[in-house]
Amino acid sequence: MPAAIRPVFAVIAAVASNGVIGIDGRLPWRLPDDLKRFRALTSGHTIIMGRRTWESLPHALPDRQNIVVTRTPGYFADGAETAGSLADALPRVHCPAPTFCIGGGALYRDALLLADALYITEIDRAFTGDATFPPLDRDRWLEVDREPHTLDGPDGFDYAFVTFRRIDR
Ligand SMILES: NC(=O)c1ccc[n+]([C@@H]2O[C@H](COP(=O)([O-])OP(=O)(O)OC[C@H]3O[C@@H](n4cnc5c(N)ncnc54)[C@H](OP(=O)(O)O)[C@@H]3O)[C@@H](O)[C@H]2O)c1
Repeated sequence: MPAAIRPVFAVIAAVASNGVIGIDGRLPWRLPDDLKRFRALTSGHTIIMGRRTWESLPHALPDRQNIVVTRTPGYFADGAETAGSLADALPRVHCPAPTFCIGGGALYRDALLLADALYITEIDRAFTGDATFPPLDRDRWLEVDREPHTLDGPDGFDYAFVTFRRIDR
């Protein structure tokens, strides 16, 4: 993470060129370097996710406080805590900053109102999907770092790890 960025609450997402982030409860692509970066950035911190993203995981992600947001009273998430909204989740955070919203599309819409940084993996290819990232208002977000990469192979594509800082407050 760039030294100048010390977020308290951040969004982390991998987003196709058409805004798609998921299909049928899973990621539409296989990008191991993105998963490695996700682990490196979020380990030791709290991750907050929507119930459908939670159900896409095999288990609670280790070395992180997992909080699942759901409107279903009594929802049981093994190895995670639950909260009725993003606002309810934030006071339960007990790991050091930054706290990350890790998706999916429904929760990103709430998180963008509160986040002070975005860690976006921009994938330079359109994918078919049923979950999307909200359009970014470029008057609110300043790009402060960009690392371009290429995934080689027949299903390869260009992608970039891009960091944005909030500039509207
Ligand atoms: N590309 C990426 O970086 C990335 C990251 C994460 C997920 N994904 C993908 O995205 C897809 C899942 O995203 P999604 O948009 O379908 O679902 P989601 O945001 O993960 O979960 C939606 C559920 O979360 C709960 N929720 C969301 N907002 C809430 C709020 N304001 N208050 C209370 N509860 C709230 C509700 O649960 P209840 O229905 O239980 O009330 C809602 O049905 C999957 O395909 C996943 O693989 C991609």
